[in-house]
Amino acid sequence: MTENLIELGKKNAAIKAVEENVKKNMIIGIGSGSTIVYAVQKLGEINKEKSLNLKCIPSSFQAYQLIIQNELELITLEQYPEIDLDLDGADEIDKDLNLIKGGGGCLVQEKILASNSRALIIIADFRKKSERLGMNWKKGVPIEVIPMSFYPIMKKFTKLGGNPKLRMAQSKSGPLITDNGNFIVDVDFGQIDNLSDLNQKLLSIPGVVDTGLFIGMASKAYIGTQDGKVLIIERK
Ligand code: A5P
Repeated sequence: MTENLIELGKKNAAIKAVEENVKKNMIIGIGSGSTIVYAVQKLGEINKEKSLNLKCIPSSFQAYQLIIQNELELITLEQYPEIDLDLDGADEIDKDLNLIKGGGGCLVQEKILASNSRALIIIADFRKKSERLGMNWKKGVPIEVIPMSFYPIMKKFTKLGGNPKLRMAQSKSGPLITDNGNFIVDVDFGQIDNLSDLNQKLLSIPGVVDTGLFIGMASKAYIGTQDGKVLIIERK
């Protein structure tokens, strides 16, 4: 039952976000994860029905396949460096629309797309909403690192007050490998109240590629609630 409500929440949020924000000829960034699947399906449908001429840039191999499967036009950031709208999921969303992302193993390309977009719109189910980052998402902040650096980096994360864990692959012995050939370390910092400061400290460690902290990037979040509605939060 709860599982159904979660899927319904994802779907409702994704569909409403697409219906309210997508316009003809848009360049659209496509995030990764399970919620974005519903958004890309909807994009594919309306693109055909209304001849919208949408062009989509993927944030991962998963997103690349979704674009192709839904018969949308696949483009690159080199051809279209300015994105009109970036659609993506999140693992946790605080009241100011700061995010934790990367639970699905993708964050670097997601942040690149978000940083080159006029608007980042987040789609999620009710579990993701939180007062403060680290309150609901207990798996830690995903941080992509260069493989040779992971061991000393984990010691540095501990010195910063975190509890780091190297993310392991499923159905394969050893660490998860990102689309960029890197590792992900999930670092539990508990509830985070000094987001920018922590992010800057993490980014200054050699070997850190990027963090799953998306601070001040999202403009709006569509959150599918348990009663079948969609809550829309806009950044102040
Ligand atoms: C991918 O690594 C993530 O940043 C996802 O956007 C995030 O984990 C949300 O995924 P779901 O839509 O599967 O919850």
